[in-house]
Amino acid sequence: MHRNNKLKAILKKVSEVIFSEDTSYGELQETLRSWRESLETYHEMDPDTPEYNENVYLDEGKAIATRWAALCIEDLVRTKRFVSAVKKAADSVLRKKPGTPATILYVGTGPFATLVLPLTQVFSPSEIQFDLIEVNNETFKLLKATIQSYGLEAYVRNYYCTDATRFKVENTDVDILLVECLQQALAREPQVKITENLVPQLKDDMILIPEDISLSLALLNTAQQQSFLLNTDPTREIDFYKIIDTVFSINKEVVLKNELSYDEHTVLISEDQLKDRNRISIFTEMTLFEDERLTYNESGLTIPWDITDYSTESQIHGVTLKYVTGSEPGLNIKIKKGPYEKAPKSNI
Ligand SMILES: C[S@@+](CC[C@H](N)C(=O)[O-])C[C@H]1O[C@@H](n2cnc3c(N)ncnc32)[C@H](O)[C@@H]1O
Repeated sequence: MHRNNKLKAILKKVSEVIFSEDTSYGELQETLRSWRESLETYHEMDPDTPEYNENVYLDEGKAIATRWAALCIEDLVRTKRFVSAVKKAADSVLRKKPGTPATILYVGTGPFATLVLPLTQVFSPSEIQFDLIEVNNETFKLLKATIQSYGLEAYVRNYYCTDATRFKVENTDVDILLVECLQQALAREPQVKITENLVPQLKDDMILIPEDISLSLALLNTAQQQSFLLNTDPTREIDFYKIIDTVFSINKEVVLKNELSYDEHTVLISEDQLKDRNRISIFTEMTLFEDERLTYNESGLTIPWDITDYSTESQIHGVTLKYVTGSEPGLNIKIKKGPYEKAPKSNI
């Protein structure tokens, strides 16, 4: 088979597997791995090449090296849910304005525009149009070559190799803003600043994906967590954590109202809440679009970020948190020690 035809056949299969209701985990794994491998082979991409291993350090966080961005495809559940979310959002735009394409501004495409390419198998260029933004030069070159290799140029309205935390949107006719420059706990990468820069420049009814990302402070019982992770019986519920409070959220509303919570605040924890639990963690959960969500441990993006283990004798009585932006974005966290307070209440 001609090289390009083989690539196209794999993309078609990727789309079928992602949009199928009853895909098995094994099938998803096999299909997404062969998708990445097909692209790496096509581009003769040796991941050990020095240029593919260089992160780009921006004023507002790190843009990961090409090699690691390519591997994101294989964060399986993430890829399936994000692509499904973008499809549902595009369907909803097309229902509202039939006859004109749903326009998608995709920021942080990686080398393979992973989160939108499967849509080209179910929509025509008159139904969806992409603006693609990627800051890493090597990644950007591969992105263009990828679009070309499939012959999908008609879907791309604009390419930009630029830093989206500073980007002034040229064509504000955007129906869907898709931003995927993040890691667990919104650490290191510039998701927050990109969203803060772009959302106010776009239409009020634009759909932001993820619609909401929230970080919460949780207390865990790690023995029960182990039983939860090993449990194969879906009818057995294992309660191993308690969410104490949401500590940071980003969505369209907080950005537009200028209400992103960058202030330092303290979440108090009672002796009773600490009992039978031995770890403090930050949970990341996100609503991508409508019912497409990513919760605890379903993806690399929602692995809990463990802050500390404690014993019941320790005098932890709260956690002070502050989300910081700049070259190393993320939550600054301090454990407050001292006597327990009687009636704990969050000050958020
Ligand atoms: C975690 S990777 C995700 C890749 C892709 N979305 C996927 O799902 O496979 C994030 C990508 O965003 C890019 N990126 C990070 N910060 C950026 C910025 N400020 N402007 C544009 N692109 C950025 C990185 O270079 C990287 O390719």
